[in-house]
This record gives sequence, C-alpha cells and structure tokens, in this order.
Amino acid sequence: METILIIDDDPAFLEKAKTLLHRGGYDDVQTETDPGQALMRVDRGAPYGVVLIDLDMQGLDGLGLMGAVHESDPDTECVVLSALNEARVAVDCIKKGACDYLTKPVRDDRLLASVKHAASRLRSSRAVFSPQPGHPDASAGANAFESIITRSDRMRRIIQEARLHAGSDVTILITGESGTGKELLAQAIHRVSGRAGAPFTSINMASLAGSLFDAEFFGHTRGAFTGAERDRVGYLEHSNGGTVFLDEVADLPFDFQGKLLRVLEQGEFIRLGASAAQKADVRFISATNADLERQLARRSFRQDLYYRLKGVQLHLPPLRERREDIPLLVDHFLSEFGRSRAVHRIDGEAMRAIAGYDYPGNVRELRAVIQSAVNLVEGGCLTLSSLPAYLRKQHRKRSAGTFIPPGRIAPLEEIERQHLIRAYEESGLNKIRAARILGIGVNTLRRKLSLYGIR
Ligand SMILES: Nc1ncnc2c1ncn2[C@@H]1O[C@H](COP(=O)(O)OP(=O)(O)O)[C@@H](O)[C@H]1O
Ligand SMILES: [Mg+2]
Repeated sequence: METILIIDDDPAFLEKAKTLLHRGGYDDVQTETDPGQALMRVDRGAPYGVVLIDLDMQGLDGLGLMGAVHESDPDTECVVLSALNEARVAVDCIKKGACDYLTKPVRDDRLLASVKHAASRLRSSRAVFSPQPGHPDASAGANAFESIITRSDRMRRIIQEARLHAGSDVTILITGESGTGKELLAQAIHRVSGRAGAPFTSINMASLAGSLFDAEFFGHTRGAFTGAERDRVGYLEHSNGGTVFLDEVADLPFDFQGKLLRVLEQGEFIRLGASAAQKADVRFISATNADLERQLARRSFRQDLYYRLKGVQLHLPPLRERREDIPLLVDHFLSEFGRSRAVHRIDGEAMRAIAGYDYPGNVRELRAVIQSAVNLVEGGCLTLSSLPAYLRKQHRKRSAGTFIPPGRIAPLEEIERQHLIRAYEESGLNKIRAARILGIGVNTLRRKLSLYGIR
C-alpha cells in the first residue's frame, strides 16, 4: 500500500482529508503543516507514493516543493491543490509534472478519485521494473537499486537504463573511476534479473593473472596438470544460471581474451583435461576504470572481445561531478558506522569540508573518511577535528578566500557572493534547499549564481 503525504498549512483540511483517505482504504496517510519540514522529509528520500501539495502555503512555493519531490523520487505522483480556479495555473502545474490539479474547496469524491488515479499511475510505472512475481528473490529484487544512494539526475538516468537491460542477458560494460560504484551497480542488476536465485561471482582480472587463470576460470579434471589432484569446479560452472562480474577487465591477459571470447560466442566451455564441452549459462557484466579504447589502439585488448563485452555501456560519473550526492552518502555512511558509537550528527563546518573535497577515490574514499572519522568523534557529533588532516588542510585553503581583513570594508557584492557560496555548499549544492536557507526564490538564486559565475 502506498504512503501518502499531504502538505497543507491548514490543519482542519489535513484532518478532513486524512479521515477521508483512511475511509477510502489508504492506511498510511501522513500530514505536514510546515513546508520546511515537508521539504526535509522529502529530501531525506522517504518513499512517498502520492504527495498532495497545497499551492497557497506561506513561506514556500508549492511548485518548488513538487520539484524537490520529483528530484527525490521521480516516480512519486503529485496532486496539487489550490483555491485558485485558473486554467492557466492548472496547465502550468500539469506541465511541471503534477498528476492532477484540484481547486479548493474540493468535493470528497473528487479528492478520493484523484488519489486513486495517482496511485494507479504509480503502480503501472513501477510494474515495468518489478521482477516476476513468485521469483525466489522477488522482494529483494524490487529494492536492489535502492542500495545505490543518489539524487543525481545523471546517476538516475543510468540506473533507469540499467533497470531496462537487467532482465535480458545482454552483456554490460560498466566504466568509471575506481570507487564510483561499478560493482554495486552490477550486483543490483543481477538481483533484479531472472538470475537472482543463482550466484553472482565477482572475479578481479588483475588479481587472477598467471598460469592458473584457465584452471580457476574453467575448472579442471583430476590429473589435468601436475598438482591437479582432484576435479575442480571453475568460476564459470560455479556461477551456472547466474552472473559473472569481470572486474578490472582491462587487465585480462591477452592469451586469455580469445578463450573468453569463445565462451561468449559459443555459450560453452571445456574444463581443463576434459573432452566434452559444457554449457555456460551465465550473464557477463564487466567493469573497468581504464581507457579500453586506448588499449584497443595499442592492440593489448582484442577488439572483437571488446564489442562482445560492450553490449551496453554504462558510465558512472565521478563523485566530484555529482556533489549533490555527498550529503546523502554522508548520512548513509553515518548510519552505517555511527550507530555503534552513537554518532548521528555532523556539524556544518565538517559538512562543508567534506562537501568541498574532490575525492579521487570517489564513494569508496568518502566511505573510508566517515568510517575513520566516526572513531575519533567525542560526544555524538562529527566535527572538523575528526576529519583526516588532508581534508582539513584543503578546507582551510578554500575558506581562506572568504576572510576579510579588519579595517577594509568589502563591497556588498563580495559579501553576497561569499555568503551565496557558503549557503550553496551547506545545502550540498541543492538549489532548492540553498534558496530556502537564504530566504529567496529558486529563480533568484539561479540568477545570482550565474551572475557570480558559480557553477
Ligand atoms: N551510490 C552509492 N551508494 C552507496 N554506497 C556506494 C555507492 N557507490 C559506491 N558505494 C560504496 O562504495 C564502495 C565502492 O564501490 P564499488 O562498487 O566497489 O566501486 P567500484 O567497483 O567502481 O570501484 C563500496 O563500499 C560501495 O558499497
Ligand atoms: Mg571495484
């Protein structure tokens, strides 16, 4: 059953609507009178199926809030309510993604019908990606992509594409710097695929180099070579029915590339020392942080294999190109590591230091930063002093620019610029939130940001 959130600053309306929806069979109905609180709930990524938003609230524009809802979960359906009975406004709302526009006072049956309609749209949009009912891992599968924490549009599009390809056996090549979540994505694809009941085997090509490669991969029979004292099942056979993840595929030894290509082309392999071929019922997902195209040119990677592996290519952007994910990931890792030491909060200064850093090691590095910082915290709140020295140093360098020597009156514009940067960073580069902190409209903020040349 879908969770419904109603946001309206009129408590009487909230009470009435809640009772009505309860009677209509919706058990999980939440209400919120404070638009700021509503924004926080939505930002936290709480999974609302349908959100009803009053357009006429003080202090926040309803359409901005709807934008934030969709940014947090594009699948959520929004119903907009307003006392204004104007076609122009209604059309504008629908254009911006509302599912329905209701004028207040609204009749009970009209409100209920609108929510029903929204919930049914929701089900049909989600059904496309649901695993087969009755599938052994159906419930885990539905949530598999939720383990990937993100609010970035680029990431969302990639996840969407991954979902669409998950169900087929098409080979997938995931590219991106180390620590961007390539393996996490591969696992999610496996878990929503029809292969979820069978193993996901991750094999690091860099660590496998050497003469045992064939034996490890294909398995061998007893006596196949000196030291082969018994039969051995290789990775391929072990993964039967499942997914094989070829990590750091650029490091695949050249002489093995041809053998792997044969498996992909013929769907069969032979254990070392055996005479009969066996079926290889596996799906291949590979990952690399290297420039495979360059290796093609240098002929250290076979072109035919490259195209076989790259049925679909998904590229994960580095964390510094999706900084809006940083605060979410910090929250996520705080709840992962902070629990044991009761660290649940992080102060503004520490968050700014974390949000401003470039993370050559991407999410893996951020995770390690939080993990180590948590151990140094005293008193429940993560502060600047618990962060690694290199991060603090960079932060000091960045903040040095905002220091204004005494005795010099800075032009107002300079102060405004610095203040904007601070708020924008504090918001995790979220324009809606930053605008709220500053008490200005999102459009005003956008204009000022571009005026001052801030990305
Ligand atoms: N979007 C994300 N949300 C949550 N955890 C993530 C995310 N991206 C990466 N991680 C975590 O960061 C670490 C590195 O991810 P991994 O998938 O191994 O990266 P890669 O394979 O690209 O090197 C893992 O602990 C992973 O769980
Ligand atoms: Mg990896």
